[in-house]
Amino acid sequence: MKFGFFDDNEKEYVITTPKTPLPWINYLGSNDFFSLYSNTSGGYSFYKDAKLLRLTRYRYNNIPTDNGGKYFYINENGTIWNPGWQPVKAELDSYECRHGLGYSKITSSKNQLEASVTAFVPLNDNCEINQLILTNHSNEKKTFSLFSYIEFCLWNAVDDMTNFQRNLSIGEVEVEDSVIYHKTEYRERRNHYAYFSANEKPDGFDTSRDAFLGSYRGIDHPQVVEQNTSSNSIASGWSPIASHYFNLTLEPGESKGIVFVLGYIENKEEEKWESPGIINKAPAKTVIERYFTDEKVTTALHELKEYWKHLLSNYSVESKEPKLNRMVNIWNQYQCMVTFNMSRSASYFESGTGRGMGFRDSCQDLLGFVHLIPDRARERILDIASTQFEDGSAYHQYQPLTKKGNLDIGSGFNDDPLWLIACVSAYIKETGDFSILAELVPFDNDKTNSATLFEHLKRSLNYTITHLGPHKLPLIGRADWNDCLNLNCFSKEPGESFQTTGPSEGPIAESVFIAGMFVKYGKEYASICHELGDYDEEKRALLAVDEMYDAVLQSGWDGDWFLRAYDAASEKVGSKECSEGQIFIEPQGFCVLAGIGVKEGLAQKALDSVKERLDTKYGIMLLQPAYTKYYLNLGEISSYPPGYKENAGIFCHNNPWVSIAETVIGRGDRAFEIYKKTCPAYLEDISEIHRTEPYVYSQMIAGADAAFHGEAKNSWLTGTAAWTFVNVSQFILGIKPDYKGLIVDPCVPSNFGNYTVKRVFRDAEYFITVKNLDSVQKGVKKIIVDGVEIEGNLIPFEEGKTTYQVTVFMG
Ligand code: BGC
Repeated sequence: MKFGFFDDNEKEYVITTPKTPLPWINYLGSNDFFSLYSNTSGGYSFYKDAKLLRLTRYRYNNIPTDNGGKYFYINENGTIWNPGWQPVKAELDSYECRHGLGYSKITSSKNQLEASVTAFVPLNDNCEINQLILTNHSNEKKTFSLFSYIEFCLWNAVDDMTNFQRNLSIGEVEVEDSVIYHKTEYRERRNHYAYFSANEKPDGFDTSRDAFLGSYRGIDHPQVVEQNTSSNSIASGWSPIASHYFNLTLEPGESKGIVFVLGYIENKEEEKWESPGIINKAPAKTVIERYFTDEKVTTALHELKEYWKHLLSNYSVESKEPKLNRMVNIWNQYQCMVTFNMSRSASYFESGTGRGMGFRDSCQDLLGFVHLIPDRARERILDIASTQFEDGSAYHQYQPLTKKGNLDIGSGFNDDPLWLIACVSAYIKETGDFSILAELVPFDNDKTNSATLFEHLKRSLNYTITHLGPHKLPLIGRADWNDCLNLNCFSKEPGESFQTTGPSEGPIAESVFIAGMFVKYGKEYASICHELGDYDEEKRALLAVDEMYDAVLQSGWDGDWFLRAYDAASEKVGSKECSEGQIFIEPQGFCVLAGIGVKEGLAQKALDSVKERLDTKYGIMLLQPAYTKYYLNLGEISSYPPGYKENAGIFCHNNPWVSIAETVIGRGDRAFEIYKKTCPAYLEDISEIHRTEPYVYSQMIAGADAAFHGEAKNSWLTGTAAWTFVNVSQFILGIKPDYKGLIVDPCVPSNFGNYTVKRVFRDAEYFITVKNLDSVQKGVKKIIVDGVEIEGNLIPFEEGKTTYQVTVFMG
């Protein structure tokens, strides 16, 4: 069943009922100011950091769900409704929500009064605009009231929901003209405030939540709205809100627009206060003025759309698969940008107060957005690398505002260091910018202790080399990519967190997955050394890679697939000798994509085992058979009920690894089949089963053992976005950036037909037509660049040349 449709021309997903299975959200914001915005106008806003600078409140785990946002209430002769349906939930005569790239537009109507709200964060200001347009479609004059409503958060979202003994006494606001200022904390010489403005003088306002709602009432029936007049309350402590009240009249056919701006101001040092204790309102007024008319708002929205059009033109495909086209050209890349902005901090499944930026997460996310915003990717790499320790290990997470490592979580996830090599090599291949390697980057954010980025990479590599276990495989530490495989977690007591217990090193548990990573990224590191002309270091790295390759074949192969690990007692994990958890997806995907076992014929065997044992119609499960009880030697993974999350859920993140692995051995049919299984656009028709948004990837889909097989969770903030984009753009469609140019090496289903790709690479435009006249799955027989046949399949990048016309003949 569908709850909407794709409008590819407008690059929008159009939701046609507010009653979606779960809130279907969008992200507004490109730089520092962000909002989460659902199809019923729920959500919240923050500046830079969803934990530390939260502007509006949001109650997770709420009932009814998604109850809190930026609301407009309309009261026409006692009939009260919201354009986004929530929170009043009055039946609407029509409803539509268009989630576009960085903006959302909800249009609905009741009794021939139409309300349309367009919400977006303009490109260059720290604010969210809500442009409301009301139209009277009836033949009668209409008189009605309009109330806006937002609830302020007292900045630190954790403190806001815990420290009531203080917080209920600190709220302060100020109202001047049509602007409501939220000033809480300005007394302690903070330099920031928020405001909510309207571009028209209201007939009243409220800033006290209690006054607006009335005692024992919820936001679904506020007293002020029912009484049809505001109370002009000035909040003092308790819960500050901002609500404007307008008494409006529209003639038949008449439309009226009102622009609301929710903004954040951080005064510069020199303009902190007009005088102590008084906020400087001038910067807010400047921003409000910039969006003071409908025309100005339309222009700002147009600029935002152009920005996205430009970004997405860096990679686009035309094939005979419309669902593939729309995912590659629009939604997959869009999601990659959202993961760039959010990492794992704020979604409807991540509270914004827990996990900030993940070291491994952000490194992987970068693989999906480096072609969109290389400059910001560069900056991100340097931020991430600054949280690395001298021995090459790294903080597992850091806070976006401070960019400092999270001390509570610390380090000890032994895959982390290698992901740095992954993202740096992707960045250099995309941009050709080797200068990043010479940048001085601190260890542990300590500027007095820095080394070049290249040295950081070397330490990453060395960390694995110096942390090998009895089988010469990498020690897993607290966990590897699979956070929940805690093989050294003997000491967990009830109530303790898995990830913060157990020694961070050893004693001896080893990971075949990290071994696969080492082979892949050790080779990447070696190729960087090669490009730099550091042949001794290249040789050293390749030698270590060879040794690791041999160790995997020797101790990491289980007969029909790759083993997952050895636990702290050196017992096998992910082996046919195990009673449960006999085969895991991660080493099959990663070892094969790293090239392990290809020439020995093991790769195909491993991937056939994946198909036979882990595949379902909704995607490939993480392991089988699922763990039915808790195993002390395995940790959190076995704490999940069978079929969920890491315990045999379909973890979408590593499905593309298997798809890539299939391309490595040339099986395009299977690679694409895997791609389609978890691809949102292909799941749109089963939205009632899948439940999360059909335009973005979710982290997990319930596996075959789960009660609700096929149901997805944790949409938006997942490495799936980046890896799927890498898979489809570089391995299936086969356009791979490399140091010296673009490599073309498609691996597609035999009936895929011809297709074209437009790729912007280092400011040059490549127009690539791939012809598959022989209906093969892999293989390039001839490439013609600007009328001339080239040797091999690398299209060399030539400085100064701006366009390349390329025809590729598969066969
Ligand atoms: C984390 C990833 C991790 C994955 C598998 C996700 O929630 O963000 O870092 O690799 O789970 O455990």
